[in-house]
Amino acid sequence: MDITTTYLGLKLKSPLIASSSPLTETLENIQRLEEAGAAAVVLPSIFEEQLTLDNNAQDRDLARGSDSSAEATSYFPEQEEVRHGQDVYLNQIRRAKSACSIPILASLNGATASGWVRFAKEIEQAGADALELNTYSVASGYYSHDAGYDETSATIEKGLVNLVRQVKAATQIPVAVKLSQQYTSIPHLAMELDRAGADGIVMFNRFYQPDFDIETLDVRPKLVLSRPEELLLRLHWIAILYGNVRADLAVTGGIHCAEGVLKSMMAGAQVAMTTSSLLSNGISHLTTMQTDMFRWMEEHEYKSIQQMRGSLSRRAVPDPSAFERGNYIKTLSSYTLRETA
Ligand SMILES: Cc1cc2nc3c(=O)[nH]c(=O)nc-3n(C[C@H](O)[C@H](O)[C@H](O)COP(=O)(O)O)c2cc1C
Repeated sequence: MDITTTYLGLKLKSPLIASSSPLTETLENIQRLEEAGAAAVVLPSIFEEQLTLDNNAQDRDLARGSDSSAEATSYFPEQEEVRHGQDVYLNQIRRAKSACSIPILASLNGATASGWVRFAKEIEQAGADALELNTYSVASGYYSHDAGYDETSATIEKGLVNLVRQVKAATQIPVAVKLSQQYTSIPHLAMELDRAGADGIVMFNRFYQPDFDIETLDVRPKLVLSRPEELLLRLHWIAILYGNVRADLAVTGGIHCAEGVLKSMMAGAQVAMTTSSLLSNGISHLTTMQTDMFRWMEEHEYKSIQQMRGSLSRRAVPDPSAFERGNYIKTLSSYTLRETA
């Protein structure tokens, strides 16, 4: 049975990738992931704020007043730490490349155009097989008394497209864009990123919100691992895009078992990435997912992943309205009211 796939021009032994997280931080874990069946790993993101002391991002944040307390600026590193952080990351790419045979993808979250490009080049030189642009940002807007909130959706999207264009122009490395789900027209944005040269589109980053502590009147970071239901949103958009963009499509978010991987392939993805399932069940869960995939494919007489790819995409299903407005109406009317107490 052939479960190989390709992604960003790389030939992978399966569609199972360990996405960017602390799990892919140490060489030991990367090797364990490879042994458990990961076809590739994405390293944790390196953030421009960890790399730069003097850049616009920092200036911008400082200008917003975050320097008013020592605590607020405490995540900006000292000069030595900057060089150190950068070297550690690049070395980790080199070490992972020499110790493993699976592709190693680096992940970068920049804040300024020059920062993205400069570090993308360094990542390429360090030998990463591909680069994932982690575009997570919070469009909280810049409020000014005169103009109000003047950062528009169009400006944000244009920035993303320009970013891809610039990174592609400066490097030869395959580039995937990890998107957030909060865009008004995902297909249009995907098409623009595709035209700008993105080799892959990774759907979707989860959006984290801080929680309020009403006792201490504090706002704190909160990270809850994903649930399998979150996969449906990814399947929906991948099924819609499949066949209409040249870039490879990747799922991240809600892949917890073999069924999720199979559904992703049927929607039209090239690969399925997972993190929460491994954080909850351990790295060996990857082996279980792969074994279950084989079993299911055997039982259903599939010979390859390729055979199922896109079979449940909008292009392929007999009723494309399942992905459109008609589905909304059907979904609402499919709910059966139970007797309430
Ligand atoms: C603890 C933790 C750290 C993460 N760090 C990163 C990161 O550095 N860069 C990134 O792009 N995504 C990061 N992610 C997001 C994951 O790569 C993944 O996209 C997300 O968790 C959804 O996939 P899942 O449902 O399989 O967990 C992180 C997730 C977790 C849980």
